Amino acid sequence: MAHKNCTVIDHPLVQHKLSIMRMEETSCAEFRRLLREVSMLLAYEVTRDLPLTKVDITTPLTKMRAPVIDGKKITLVSILRAGNGILDGMLELIPSARVGHIGLYRDPQTLAPVEYYFKMPPEMSQRDVIVVDPMLATGNSAAAAISRIKSMAPLSIKFVCLIASPEGLDVFTGAHPDVHVYTASIDEKLDEHGYILPGLGDAGDRIYGTK
Ligand code: URA
Repeated sequence: MAHKNCTVIDHPLVQHKLSIMRMEETSCAEFRRLLREVSMLLAYEVTRDLPLTKVDITTPLTKMRAPVIDGKKITLVSILRAGNGILDGMLELIPSARVGHIGLYRDPQTLAPVEYYFKMPPEMSQRDVIVVDPMLATGNSAAAAISRIKSMAPLSIKFVCLIASPEGLDVFTGAHPDVHVYTASIDEKLDEHGYILPGLGDAGDRIYGTK
């Protein structure tokens, strides 16, 4: 199904690596390595439209005005804890990006997302923000994270995940139609526990070897 405001990154390298990540026999070390590699490829796509500015440089032969990105304006925001897996790969490609973290848990009574951690770089109103979380499952915590980040009025916000559920995408884009989603896959559905099917299991557990 086509979803508005969503780009599926169907590059063969991304799809191949994601398939290996999905396999239950893939080890924690291999999963982490693949997530790092896929995250770099996702970063490549999500930064495709970044504006360039020209600076004066000198090559061994002559002077020129060369295009550069102002990486300091880019802010990566990781939704804890699994977001850190994507963050690590993206930082390899955008080393001068600033980093924010947001932690949310689901209140067992109300099922509403509750914030337990929020730390952003200064001057958020001058920043282009890329929010990362591997799994867009119910969409509730991602939507709550975006609302919180919007309260700091950044210049722009994009959301990057590895796998989205159709249900989560509907919730997310319904709440934030102005935030474009980049994902490697839109899977089949959510199960009754909020896991994405076929998915890859619990992304945090698979990155960190917890269970
Ligand atoms: N979070 C995960 O890590 N996996 C899912 O399938 C859903 C939410």
